[in-house]
Amino acid sequence: MNDSYTAKKDAIKELIECGKSPLYFIKKYAKIQHPLRGLITFDTFSYQDDLLQGFINHRFNIVLKSRQVGVTTLVGAYIAWFLLFHRDKNVLCIAIKQDVAKNIIRVVRTIFKNLPKWLQDLTKITIDNRQSIELSNGSRVKATTTVSDAGRSEAVSLLIVDETAHIKKFDEVWVGLWPTLSTGGRSILFSTPNGTGNLFHKLYSQAQNNENLFNCRFGTYINPSNPEEIYDDRLMWWVKPGNDDAWFKNETMGKSPREIAQEYGCSFVASGETFIFPEDIVRLEAEVKEPIEKTNFDRNLWIWKYPTKGAMYLIACDISRGDSRDFSAFHVLRIDTKIEQVAEYRGKITPDILGFVLVETSKKFNNAIIAVENNGGWSGQTILRIRELNHPFMYYTSKKRGEFVDPYYAQYAQRGNYNDYAEPGYAITPINRLPILAKMEQYVRMKHIDIYSSRLVDEFRTFAWNNSKPEAQRGYHDDLVMSLAGGLWIREESFMAFRSDGINKMLLENITNESTSTFNAENFNYNSNNLHQRGRIKEFIKDQNRIIIGTGESETIDWLLDPRSKISLG
Ligand SMILES: Nc1ncnc2c1ncn2[C@@H]1O[C@H](COP(=O)(O)OP(=O)(O)OP(=O)(O)O)[C@@H](O)[C@H]1O
Ligand SMILES: [Mg+2]
Repeated sequence: MNDSYTAKKDAIKELIECGKSPLYFIKKYAKIQHPLRGLITFDTFSYQDDLLQGFINHRFNIVLKSRQVGVTTLVGAYIAWFLLFHRDKNVLCIAIKQDVAKNIIRVVRTIFKNLPKWLQDLTKITIDNRQSIELSNGSRVKATTTVSDAGRSEAVSLLIVDETAHIKKFDEVWVGLWPTLSTGGRSILFSTPNGTGNLFHKLYSQAQNNENLFNCRFGTYINPSNPEEIYDDRLMWWVKPGNDDAWFKNETMGKSPREIAQEYGCSFVASGETFIFPEDIVRLEAEVKEPIEKTNFDRNLWIWKYPTKGAMYLIACDISRGDSRDFSAFHVLRIDTKIEQVAEYRGKITPDILGFVLVETSKKFNNAIIAVENNGGWSGQTILRIRELNHPFMYYTSKKRGEFVDPYYAQYAQRGNYNDYAEPGYAITPINRLPILAKMEQYVRMKHIDIYSSRLVDEFRTFAWNNSKPEAQRGYHDDLVMSLAGGLWIREESFMAFRSDGINKMLLENITNESTSTFNAENFNYNSNNLHQRGRIKEFIKDQNRIIIGTGESETIDWLLDPRSKISLG
């Protein structure tokens, strides 16, 4: 036996070892680019070893992960092994962005380029560009952000989908690719969550219940700083050695709770898009109280607090279509102190009967001003009934400018022709809808309102973003949400505005500035810890104080607000 024979024999042995075990191969021969330490040997963490084992044991794998735990790198290394030790394999990587797609290819390339010579000699790279690599053994990897051009016609041996939950129309992609996988292909889907209802969420949930072919369990992990937090079906941020609480704090600084839930919490629910933030909903749930009285003929008028002498109340009402198939709803809000929900109605009631109920409720609560959403339709009947009952405590807006008009002013100062001057109620239009809702979100988040109603909290849970429009999810109601938003808007626009006519000053008499929400409006983009910006909100409060009038003219209503309370545009 000569040396070269021994060397050859050893090489073959080594080769077989590598071929048999990706873990052995990666730990010994794979190099990765570390942001601080440069080119280093890929010394995998134990949870990465678990992942690898899962990739080998199961044809279909789905990984729910936190950000930055090293999954892309690990999958890249797995691809390198897969290509090197198999012939004529076709690996397809799908990513949300070009960068991410290139990233995987970069990991594979770095590994190939830094293999010892004897391994490099084994199979040569025949094609190498930013998005694909091909080896002389006929195996290749291609990364793409679009699927139409890739993989459809040819069988895919290994399908990788990076940030699966964030890929638009992934369900269509999956339908297209599934047949090409069915002939023995393998797949690894991995992602941070992105709300519920998408295909990633569905496949993952099924995997948890063993209802599909996917494996979602790789190992059992215990949070080192909280031994009670144990998961076997997800990679939380703390699985990675070195990621301690200080790291987490630093990493999540400036991020909203929703972003944190999505990127680090592996939480499908909290990463979803309810309009009111999940942690606020959780807080409100804890504050729900049984009413002290359920009254009205339908027992749908819930009262939490009886009127206090001298207190000022506002009733904000959302009127149904009037065929009594829909709900009508109103809130009674105390507005001269911290805003408080003292009573609430939601019921199926005709608009004219609603008029009676509103007047009765107004009388009970110190002649509360009744503000109805004037939708031009059924609300007319309610308004008519209130007028017939000679109840003057109604809320008006000026016809010409859409400005808010004090009810006394509308009805008495302009006696006789107030119909020409002012319209009863307030209108929610496509233009002011978002600012009105944003205002409500602000009140809730900044804890400037006390809410007790379980019905309202239920509506918050299903009031969610649908593309760029917040609305009730299909089959759910938003009557209480919309009427609350209307009430808070009115409270702010007319009861807090200093006006020259002197009448609002009268209304303002008992209102302290501390009790007003916009006093703190500069905090609009911050939570109580001043931590984060809520990106989405920020987008649409830009024009919070701008209204667009019928003619298309736009006008800022900043002047209506106390100068100290200017809403931050930042
Ligand atoms: N075992 C390891 N040892 C040292 N560094 C590692 C290890 N695994 C991954 N890394 C490094 O951790 C960083 C994050 O890795 P990677 O991008 O693969 O994670 P990810 O989970 O895909 O992150 P993202 O959520 O940003 O997509 C990279 O800089 C990578 O080089
Ligand atoms: Mg990644």
